[in-house]
Amino acid sequence: MPVRIAIVGTGNIARTHARAVAGIPSATLAGAMDVDSSRLDPFCEEYGVAEGCRDLGDLLSRARPDLVHICTPPATHYAAALECLNAGASVLVEKPPVISLRELDGLAAAQGPSRPGGTREPPWFATVFQHRFGSGQRRLKAVADSGALGRPLVAVCHTTWFRDQAYFDVPWRGGWDNEGGGPTMGHGIHQMDMLADVLGDWTEVSALARTSARVMATEDLSLAHVSFANGAVASVVNSVLSPREETYLRFDYEYATVEVTHLYGYADADWRITPAKGHSGEVQAAWDDAEYGTKSGHAAQFAHVLDALRDGRQPPVAPGEARRTMSLVAGIYASAFTRRPVTPDDLAPGTPFYGAMNGGKTAPWQ
Ligand SMILES: NC(=O)c1ccc[n+]([C@@H]2O[C@H](COP(=O)([O-])OP(=O)(O)OC[C@H]3O[C@@H](n4cnc5c(N)ncnc54)[C@H](O)[C@@H]3O)[C@@H](O)[C@H]2O)c1
Repeated sequence: MPVRIAIVGTGNIARTHARAVAGIPSATLAGAMDVDSSRLDPFCEEYGVAEGCRDLGDLLSRARPDLVHICTPPATHYAAALECLNAGASVLVEKPPVISLRELDGLAAAQGPSRPGGTREPPWFATVFQHRFGSGQRRLKAVADSGALGRPLVAVCHTTWFRDQAYFDVPWRGGWDNEGGGPTMGHGIHQMDMLADVLGDWTEVSALARTSARVMATEDLSLAHVSFANGAVASVVNSVLSPREETYLRFDYEYATVEVTHLYGYADADWRITPAKGHSGEVQAAWDDAEYGTKSGHAAQFAHVLDALRDGRQPPVAPGEARRTMSLVAGIYASAFTRRPVTPDDLAPGTPFYGAMNGGKTAPWQ
């Protein structure tokens, strides 16, 4: 039986989802829902969706989805995901998964019961972080995990993109209550997710943020220095003020530098590896022997999600992994607001930046 998928929110990114689902033989698009029928009706017609609904409860009872893709604005993710999980449907939510660590922990807890061995029963909650699934990122992780690159020492994570004022004048963007932040939460989160996917848990962050050119309640740029538990340190830039747009990540290991330069998605050709003197033989052999051939993107992630569902496993990206990235975003904001270094303990349940990315305050740089 194909996996029954429903899409909630039929705007821009939902079309990427619908096209990718159409390309997966083991899945069927069983229904769609939007509060705006001028979005919903043409979407259902274009993608041949039988059940088009204006209400989430109707969608869940009529389409009976195994998996619901939530493609609505960020502040609506929590309530929609909770309703799906409570109805027994697994959820794959667009980034940012929710707008606070408290909401993320709430959804993790609303999943099915845990099984012995650390796994759990459906329904599951997963986040779209599609750049984990291109072969370049998977190759870097596999080769790093094999030990062939030595210890990670220094990393660079630059999201230097451009968004004009009109982009932020859309009602759901550029605020703490609607989007949960600016480009740190909305754009750089993709690259910080790649960084955390490779380097693991962070231990301290020092950051600053500014609103230098756009009129918005959050930031239009942030910069951070991040320490990781494995000893590596990273420099992070999140900007939407950069006319020559580029996405750049660089990982300097003991035995090689690995870099990727792209914009909104990478292919194998966007990655390069430079072995250190005396290490080119082993490093190049390990790099050549790893995975190739998959561009980063939704289709790449959905293939892994569908494989997991077919095997009865938690689909990626699981809440614990998404939490590491979200907590780094929260740490950057907490440091920029308080003008001091922040550790994960500063974001514990009950603290201000656990409950909201701005800690319930007006940004001091405004
Ligand atoms: N992974 C990526 O690369 C990527 C790219 C773009 C956007 N996104 C994310 O996707 C999400 C949606 O972004 P978008 O650009 O498609 O937005 P959009 O404004 O184009 O579409 C959102 C849709 O949701 C509908 N909607 C609003 N509230 C709703 C509700 N409560 N229930 C049902 N429908 C509702 C709107 O009517 C609209 O049709 C955001 O979280 C955004 O950050 C991710």
